[in-house]
Amino acid sequence: MTEQSPALDNLLSETRTFPPDGEFAAQANAGAGMYAEAQSDREGFWAEQAEKLDWESRWDQVVDWSNAPFARWFVGGRLNVAFNCVDRHVAAGFGDQVAIHWVGEPGDTREITYAQLQEEVCRAANGLASLGVVAGDRVAIQLQMIPEAIVAMLACARIGALHSVVFGGFSPTALRARVDDAEAKVVITSDGQYRRGKAAAMKAQVDEALVGAESVQRVLVVRRTGAETPEEVPWTESRDIWWHELMATQPAEHEAEAFDSEHPLFILYTSGTTGKPKGILHTSGGYLTQAAYTHRVVFDHKPGQDVYWCTADIGWVTGHSYIVYGPLANRATQVVYEGTPNTPHEGRHWEIVQNYKVSIYYTAPTLIRTFMKWGSDIPAKYDLSSLRVLGSVGEPINPEAWMWYREHIGGGRAPIVDTWWQTETGAIMISPLPGVTHTKPGSAQAPLPGISAKVVDDNGAEVPAGGGGYLVLDKPWPAMLRGIWGDDERYRETYWSRFADQGFYFAGDGAKYDSDGDIWLLGRVDDVMNVSGHRISTTEVESALVSHPAVAEAAVVGASDATTGQGIVAFVILRGSSTDAGEQTVQDLRNHVAGEIGPIAKPRQIMVVSELPKTRSGKIMRRLLRDVAENRDVGDVTTLADASVMDQIASGLKSGS
Ligand code: WT7
Repeated sequence: MTEQSPALDNLLSETRTFPPDGEFAAQANAGAGMYAEAQSDREGFWAEQAEKLDWESRWDQVVDWSNAPFARWFVGGRLNVAFNCVDRHVAAGFGDQVAIHWVGEPGDTREITYAQLQEEVCRAANGLASLGVVAGDRVAIQLQMIPEAIVAMLACARIGALHSVVFGGFSPTALRARVDDAEAKVVITSDGQYRRGKAAAMKAQVDEALVGAESVQRVLVVRRTGAETPEEVPWTESRDIWWHELMATQPAEHEAEAFDSEHPLFILYTSGTTGKPKGILHTSGGYLTQAAYTHRVVFDHKPGQDVYWCTADIGWVTGHSYIVYGPLANRATQVVYEGTPNTPHEGRHWEIVQNYKVSIYYTAPTLIRTFMKWGSDIPAKYDLSSLRVLGSVGEPINPEAWMWYREHIGGGRAPIVDTWWQTETGAIMISPLPGVTHTKPGSAQAPLPGISAKVVDDNGAEVPAGGGGYLVLDKPWPAMLRGIWGDDERYRETYWSRFADQGFYFAGDGAKYDSDGDIWLLGRVDDVMNVSGHRISTTEVESALVSHPAVAEAAVVGASDATTGQGIVAFVILRGSSTDAGEQTVQDLRNHVAGEIGPIAKPRQIMVVSELPKTRSGKIMRRLLRDVAENRDVGDVTTLADASVMDQIASGLKSGS
């Protein structure tokens, strides 16, 4: 396999294990027998999970893989996803149960019961329909973490329209690319968003994105900050409409129509190895089945008892599956928090856990490491005894962070579930099961019951215990992507060509078995970076850099970073002969990338160089640049077209600093 970061080496010698607590195990949703049960009758096992949903008509076939790699699950079944997430709970008598404890960044709060959620989703469904949105249409949503974001997603699902949620931190250029690719008919956004105590404009940015966007007929605007100047909230009378004004005219009842199990539910764009983001397509029955199943067993969620909190943003798949679809299908009571973890103080999350008695908390390693940096005295000031399950997602969690999480947040008692999955997999695939698994700091351990994954070598042969290679998924799963929007060829090429002979899905991650056969994820093996759990392609950042008039050429690498997992380091060759880049140029370039993609893609560091290391066939050798970025001695340079390039880079850096 390709090089692996030395920081990960220490993961492989971890010997600590934590057996499940007997009391926890006795009440757990998961049981050890599930593995064997799923093994002996995979389809029967998944059918059993699907039966926990409400279907208008049952499927005739659990899975149809005859047209691989395009799967169909619960073939012939019909259901309404939003009905399953909301209405059925109200019908069962739980209308008064709180669905969402919403906490705004400035400190305002809202409690939304399932009955109220139903009313809001119905109004929004009627509202969208009144704007001409019909099943199969695409609706782009760029909203911060406010209840309307969830309502908008569910309203789309209810009428069979596909939502394409675009992270609020993405630039107008990035939003526009996604709107155009999906040909969105409606865009839903807000006047502005609170971020670190300040209100930032949103509508103005969206308007900038939509200049000349042909597919867009209407823009729905949620009022959040109350911004009202034409600079902050520019208005196009024939196109724009306030969310609250539209909702006020809509009936609170809406008949939910059932759709085919394979009816598309959403598109979510994610970075690949080329510059153009991929529109990952998910459908209804299989996706909801696995989102609900995993939420139930991995978090041991008990409706009516637990208070659940996933700290993700709905702009990412974690927000889709573990804020919206999984938890709501399972009748969760959950916290949704609008803001940043250190506004107004660094104990904000723990204060919320204490106030709402949060029992299940799901977050990302990058945030755990940030909490570590802020100091364990901060969580120590709060009562965190309600916490009983802790989750991690987005990147490998280093054992130090895992142990800190266990001790300082989980009181040395709450099991930690390190969940591996991807936008493409739709739901959790590899994870310990609380109450069953003896957990190990840093390892995601084993595929869930019903899921099959392997670590294989270059030829697709499974590696023995102790061996490393590539992670593959060797059997279809219910929540798997159904393709890339508008690009079947790219779908086959990206995921199914690497191990075409074996018919394996190639995840793009390196992995390893330890001597117990547990799986350790080792990071991406392709040109995809993982910065704070966000996937960013090196090519995308390179394209952004070369689109700046001062840049002739750029190469980008992900260098290991103690807090964010990886940090973006760019090497650029400027136009003209100068390598003497002023601080101003570097700042301009960083801001340019933020403008092209979004602030999350801003390089941590930009080094101006006179040459880039290339192979004879012209491929940039990122491995060498990573050595430089991580202050290591540069490795083997024999395949370089010009072996002196690395010396030039090294000396150029010295003189530049
Ligand atoms: C990539 C998927 C899944 C939601 C968040 C990210 C990395 C994710 C883990 C984990 C090691 C992980 C992988 C994967 N990743 N979870 N528990 N341990 N690595 O979704 O943006 O689609 O990124 O995130 O590299 O391929 P995504």
